[in-house]
Amino acid sequence: MLNGFKSPQTIALIGSTSEIGQAILKHLPLENLSTCYLASRSPSPIVGISSKAAFVPIAFEATDTHSHEKFVQQLFSQGDLDLAIIAIGALGNDSTLSDEANALNAMQVNYVAASYIMALIAKKMVEQGHGRILVISSFAQTRPRNDNFAYGSTKAGLDFMARGLNEKLRGTGVSVCVLRPGFVRTRMTHGMVEAPFTVSAEVVGKVAASLIKSKKSVGYAPSILKPLALIFSLLPPAVFRKISQR
Ligand SMILES: NC(=O)c1ccc[n+]([C@@H]2O[C@H](COP(=O)([O-])OP(=O)(O)OC[C@H]3O[C@@H](n4cnc5c(N)ncnc54)[C@H](OP(=O)(O)O)[C@@H]3O)[C@@H](O)[C@H]2O)c1
Repeated sequence: MLNGFKSPQTIALIGSTSEIGQAILKHLPLENLSTCYLASRSPSPIVGISSKAAFVPIAFEATDTHSHEKFVQQLFSQGDLDLAIIAIGALGNDSTLSDEANALNAMQVNYVAASYIMALIAKKMVEQGHGRILVISSFAQTRPRNDNFAYGSTKAGLDFMARGLNEKLRGTGVSVCVLRPGFVRTRMTHGMVEAPFTVSAEVVGKVAASLIKSKKSVGYAPSILKPLALIFSLLPPAVFRKISQR
């Protein structure tokens, strides 16, 4: 199957307890699905999906990079993998300069693990001659603020890597797309003050599913964030500082 992914037979959801990840699955066309790998630290039942496909749990620890090559081999052990959704993520917190260990975890999960897994999967997909990978970046990567820049930096790195890899993959039948959600109501943001344009995981799932099926390489959820990202990147520092303070 070439770019313009339509109806996957085999999917890997990496970070299968992710509420956004599960919402993406729900909005994909699953009529031809035969196997869905659910990769997570702990078993994760998928809620709200009716499919006769085999849902196969695979243990995955993002910080254990030595295990990742073997993990990716498992995803291809039964045949081709049509679609990989990389939904792992750790928010860290706002206390860089007081809790660097937390920032380190976000760096390891969001950038190192997600980028490495993406590259390993892409390599195997090139061998099979087709495939699509979705990685979840964030609107937070648009421009550094004083409150979430450690997290934003990990997503900026991942985003850059994904877009670069997508360029490298041109002509191979394999492609990578990047989703940049804003503030989403999930376990990750539970208890936090909501930002403007906050959406549910369902909304993000819908946008992601149509991004996967399209030939686009970048998508925003909700879509209003696309022009907002452009405006944010052009604002003078003092103005940006003022409007982004929360
Ligand atoms: N929620 C938002 O506002 C928002 C906005 C923009 C982007 N995103 C991104 O969207 C993606 C999904 O987030 P979500 O909102 O659905 O949050 P979530 O439900 O907390 O999902 C995060 C996922 O990452 C996994 N994970 C974290 N550390 C891991 C590790 N060391 N090893 C293996 N898995 C690990 C979690 O597994 P466990 O269940 O084992 O912890 C979970 O499956 C993330 O990349 C996040 O950064 C979220």
